[in-house]
Amino acid sequence: MCGIFGAVVREGDVTPAILDGLALLEYRGYDSAGIAVFTSRGMERRRRVGKLEILRNALAKEGFGGPATIGVGHTRWATHGGVTEANAHPHSDSKDELVLVHNGIIENYLDLRGDLITKGHQFLSSTDSEVLAHAIEDRLQTIERGGARQHPDISALEEAVMSAARAARGTYAIVVLHKRYPDRIIVARQDSPVVIGIGRGAAFVASDVPALLRHTRSVYYLRDGEVATLTTEGVGVRTLDGKVVSYRPQEIAWDAAATDRRGYPHYMLKEIEEQPDAIAQTAFDRLDDENGDVRFEDFDVSDEKLKSAQRIQIIACGTSLHAGFVGKFLIEEFAGLPVECDYASEFRYRTPLPSKDVIAIGISQSGETMDTLKGLGQARERGAAILDICNVKGSSIPRMSDATIYTHAGPEIGVASTKAFTCQLVALYLLAIRMGRARGRLSRDDGRELLLSLRKLRPRLDALFNDAARESVRALAKKYQGSRDFLFLGRGLNYPIALEGALKLKEISYIHAEGYPAGEMKHGPIAMIDATLPVVVIATRGRDRDKTLNQLEQVRARGGRVIVICNAGDADARRLGDDLIEVPATSDHLAPIVNVIPLQRLAYEIAVCRNLSPDNPRNLAKSVTVE
Ligand code: G6P
Repeated sequence: MCGIFGAVVREGDVTPAILDGLALLEYRGYDSAGIAVFTSRGMERRRRVGKLEILRNALAKEGFGGPATIGVGHTRWATHGGVTEANAHPHSDSKDELVLVHNGIIENYLDLRGDLITKGHQFLSSTDSEVLAHAIEDRLQTIERGGARQHPDISALEEAVMSAARAARGTYAIVVLHKRYPDRIIVARQDSPVVIGIGRGAAFVASDVPALLRHTRSVYYLRDGEVATLTTEGVGVRTLDGKVVSYRPQEIAWDAAATDRRGYPHYMLKEIEEQPDAIAQTAFDRLDDENGDVRFEDFDVSDEKLKSAQRIQIIACGTSLHAGFVGKFLIEEFAGLPVECDYASEFRYRTPLPSKDVIAIGISQSGETMDTLKGLGQARERGAAILDICNVKGSSIPRMSDATIYTHAGPEIGVASTKAFTCQLVALYLLAIRMGRARGRLSRDDGRELLLSLRKLRPRLDALFNDAARESVRALAKKYQGSRDFLFLGRGLNYPIALEGALKLKEISYIHAEGYPAGEMKHGPIAMIDATLPVVVIATRGRDRDKTLNQLEQVRARGGRVIVICNAGDADARRLGDDLIEVPATSDHLAPIVNVIPLQRLAYEIAVCRNLSPDNPRNLAKSVTVE
């Protein structure tokens, strides 16, 4: 949560680059936006409540007093303190010499604040973040007045940041600029993502890689307990206690164009439409058709390890958790292993059980979700091996895992996850096959058949990406946009898809929606059914279809309005639905990938009909890096 973008360049003006960088990070928060730069007039700052656009307009009316070669911006997802201009970042110190932006939560901010108030500091916001600006100012003053230096080889500003960061408890990515040190940006990190971009005669810092790609592909993910100094001459990294860190930047393969909307009105629509390619990129290079097996690149997990596992523990949040629920079915069936799948936020705080011979699998688009990261840390402490499925190379979760399967979905900017989800489903399908083959539960022929189904899936998806398919969902959206509630029902592998359909609708259209196992409906939700409640029933052909159609009869008998997701030409399903969404046929195991796509589209179209912004739903953030 919270987007940070900072830049120091030799010549030119960083303000447009900061605004454009923030635009690519706005998915992380949009309660308020702010920017601070140093111009010939000194430190200049503008902050506005609301989306970045409001800040942009304010700057268009009254810009800064000239170009700036150094600056930092922030988009906020409020944690401590309401959504006001005073609480917007960047914060400054008492003398307006230092500016600071922060992502994370400072847990001991009240104690620190109390001490600083006693020393005469005045606080202008009710955030936890402002305390860091004052703490750094306080330490800088002490050092500059001749206080003992621990690290005389670095500037007083770096030393002050290190000292203040050591006193802070909690999570942070902070970026600090100071009027008297106008050539440098100082960055520090603990448990909150931040990436340094290294350019020619320029350096950048951002919360996430896509914002950097217009400037450089050479990046360094700052690690916990590290402090970086960015100047136009290069980037130096040290630990919080001053030891030099020798680091190697990594080259990012994504190209900058992948982060543009490419003519689509919203990122979410672009990302829905990109799914056939994203799925192909995630799958096809990994299929060993000959042996009916899967080869993941850089995946150092031996057959012995997979054979000796007694249990799988999946840990994830949000949409990634729904992928995990599908993964549970696949791994149990293909690999014959019991699988538990848990909300990371719940798993973290459950009674610790020893987990030897357990493989924990974290699933995360961003690789930065705090609960998932901490949940995996817990699993490791209990003795589990750690794998993960992730979309962002080099992010925190892959860095702490024993092995990673990357989804090759490309950057996902829309807050509601779409293409990352279907790629997670593909990755789980492949992992389940790999496990099944390693454990001898799937024969070579079984493996070949499963891979063949996946190869056949790609051309079949085309039926979901033509004008008729798009139009039919749009028409349904128009018809049902005014509904107050929705119910989504599915069975077996399609139960998690019912959950995901409901989540998508809640996230971006703010319509109350519930996903339920179709067979469980009679134990409660059936009481809600009347002519005003649209019920989306996933009833594609396969082992659960007939039972699902029975439940559908029960909905109809009570006057419910049914939207059926079924395969083309399924006369029974047609008969029972008030409205239909037809999807191409595939195997039971791959049906979740097919069936979720029209549900993503339905949520998107309903949000558009209701004049809402699908890319930036209220109160949400794409990457939740706080507890
Ligand atoms: C947030 C987002 C969700 C996402 C979840 C997990 O809540 O709004 O869309 O599914 O985080 O994110 P991850 O990056 O771990 O998959």
